[in-house]
Amino acid sequence: MNTDVGSSLALKGRILTFNDSPHNYDYWESGCVLIEGGFITSVGDASLVEVPNDVRIIDHGEDLILPGFVDGHVHYPQMNVIASFGAKLIDWLNTFTFPEEAKFSDKSYASAAAKFFLSEALRNGYTTSAVFCTVHPQSVEAFFTEAERLGLRMIAGKVLMDRHAPKSLLDTAQTSYDQSKELIDKWHNKNRALYAITPRFAPTSTPEQLEVSGALYRESEGVYVQSHVSENVDEISWVAELFPQATSYLDVYNGFDLLGPRTLYGHGVHFSDADIEMVKDTDTSIIHCPTSNLFLGSGLFEFQKFKDVGARVALGTDVGGGTSLSPFATMKAAYEIAQFRNYSLTPFEAFYLLTLGGAEALHLGDKIGRIAPGYEADLTVVNLTSTEIISNRMKQSNELAEILFSQIIMADDRAIRTTYANGKQVYKSDEEA
Ligand code: GUN
Ligand code: ZN
Repeated sequence: MNTDVGSSLALKGRILTFNDSPHNYDYWESGCVLIEGGFITSVGDASLVEVPNDVRIIDHGEDLILPGFVDGHVHYPQMNVIASFGAKLIDWLNTFTFPEEAKFSDKSYASAAAKFFLSEALRNGYTTSAVFCTVHPQSVEAFFTEAERLGLRMIAGKVLMDRHAPKSLLDTAQTSYDQSKELIDKWHNKNRALYAITPRFAPTSTPEQLEVSGALYRESEGVYVQSHVSENVDEISWVAELFPQATSYLDVYNGFDLLGPRTLYGHGVHFSDADIEMVKDTDTSIIHCPTSNLFLGSGLFEFQKFKDVGARVALGTDVGGGTSLSPFATMKAAYEIAQFRNYSLTPFEAFYLLTLGGAEALHLGDKIGRIAPGYEADLTVVNLTSTEIISNRMKQSNELAEILFSQIIMADDRAIRTTYANGKQVYKSDEEA
């Protein structure tokens, strides 16, 4: 178990951190952040931060130091099915995804996949993710064991499915309750781990299983719920047949007490205005997964409508429906989708969603997502000139908004110089080494 929070460190460089909105941020061109015992203890202009004599200083020069990124929705067992050709949601699940997830009955297969996923997440600057495992409890064990070894704050849970999937992937209402409860007792709040009750989506759960999910949410202090909602039009029609009493797909979950604080729903692409009101009224979080929505041809999310009501929204990669674990690819797709909806997502909004906004959507805005005293020391360092074409574009302007937008549109994993979690360096690029 990794309880080593690392020695004290001072990082110098450009620093950007949001305070409470995309428009309220601190930016220091010559900044310094002091890390002690896994927490940030001081940050500001380098001339004003007092660094004790014995503390190691790492100077990141012109690089940009940001809070570690937040992925609000991702499936670690789906790394092998990224880029599966030619299907929309339900066919994609049946043809590619379920057969791959069946392999996670093997704990060593799951452990190798968890290691690969987490190393890729860190290589892309993500330090916190809300993660779907598979129906097998050992897939959750494998995931949390590796996340704990790396000292990461991660949310994850066992997928619940008791119908409409291959037999080898089905549990029952009773076993899903028992297994989830055991995993909650073992992992929830253990070091930095947090548990999410994870009914996959309404079509693969009986009403009994959704009932049980609601009971677990009510009776387990501080746990999360994560699922999918309103992603694809055929899926929505299927849900309407399966749950004729509900007024909408979202209302199915409402009927089982599965909306509320710390409930995280992927997609919400085809919501009515009433659904968006329900999201706001229940303090439910919606995770926008733009590369997935494009790849699976699901639809174009309406960011502005969620913004207008002040709903909690995060960005998710949704790998393997999503096509990339890159925060830049995700922000770029979010920008492009918003353009289709006649809304220009600003670079500040995009980076806010990836940091403090994402943390707020995960109800972790007091722990992660900011570079401020008392916050957990999860940080990502971005090389702002990682390619020739980005360097060239950067020469045209020193404006922060333009610098950030160039990264969103053109950067990839080459731009992530190094990643820190819990005050320790957990990834460094070859260049950095
Ligand atoms: N809906 C139910 N399961 C899934 C999944 O694994 N990925 C996506 N994108 N949507 C889903
Ligand atoms: Zn998903």
